[in-house]
Amino acid sequence: MTSQDMGRVAMISGANRGIGNAVARRLHREGYRLSLGVRRPAAFTDRSGLEGGGEVAAIAYEAAEVASATRWVDETMARFGRIDVLVNNAGIHRNVTLESGGEDELDELLAINVKAPFRLIRAALPHLKASGAGRVVNVASMSGKRARNLAVGYQMSKAAMVMLTHAVRRIGWESGVRAVAVCPGYVRTDMAGGPTAPPRDQMTDPDELAGLIATVVGLSNTASVAELLVNCQYEHML
Ligand SMILES: NC(=O)c1ccc[n+]([C@@H]2O[C@H](COP(=O)([O-])OP(=O)(O)OC[C@H]3O[C@@H](n4cnc5c(N)ncnc54)[C@H](OP(=O)(O)O)[C@@H]3O)[C@@H](O)[C@H]2O)c1
Repeated sequence: MTSQDMGRVAMISGANRGIGNAVARRLHREGYRLSLGVRRPAAFTDRSGLEGGGEVAAIAYEAAEVASATRWVDETMARFGRIDVLVNNAGIHRNVTLESGGEDELDELLAINVKAPFRLIRAALPHLKASGAGRVVNVASMSGKRARNLAVGYQMSKAAMVMLTHAVRRIGWESGVRAVAVCPGYVRTDMAGGPTAPPRDQMTDPDELAGLIATVVGLSNTASVAELLVNCQYEHML
């Protein structure tokens, strides 16, 4: 059965640019109906790659605001009547090391990268279970798998997201919910950069990553990928 036959609905946070936008365009092409969680829906006017096909709604979602998760889930249910896929993509990077960076930046990393996806999963879980083939994609990072630089604040947030993924698998498995932690290295978006970054043409293409994500989302309940590690550079452990 294809996504068109089933009218499957995907929620994607941070779908206005970067990896989230690439995933939105890809899932749209595959026939999913989309609920795009963006901070400023009125400013989300670039619909390239989202023309025609399944229905697309841009709905207000602010990860820093506690009530935003249930509001977005409720609005998605009101609009589409079901939720089959949740892509927790919205995220931030702050340079917090053990020797630098402030308490506020650390709080912000944990609030946006960890607590917000936690709340979204909690709010969407009953609907994902009802789907019978619910999918959660947590866009974590290779930074959640190893400490290649000193940015431990970001690394902790992404390691937590990997564990959150395993928690979803544990609680949702019997109801057909499958979850994957996507762990890329550098991806060619606004976020990627810094002194150790490779040239941009050597970073992973967000569209190619979106293709991998769509493939994992489309797998049956009996072919589940728990972690998807994607390198653009040689890593001697991963
Ligand atoms: N790029 C990389 O090299 C890389 C590697 C590994 C993992 N990742 C992860 O991939 C995910 C997407 O990153 P990206 O590279 O596409 O970054 P990006 O281009 O900077 O996009 C970040 C997205 O997150 C949204 N966002 C940020 N704070 C938000 C908030 N408080 N509420 C709602 N939305 C918020 C942004 O919305 P606005 O436009 O409103 O700011 C934007 O849509 C992140 O979780 C990131 O940690 C990226």
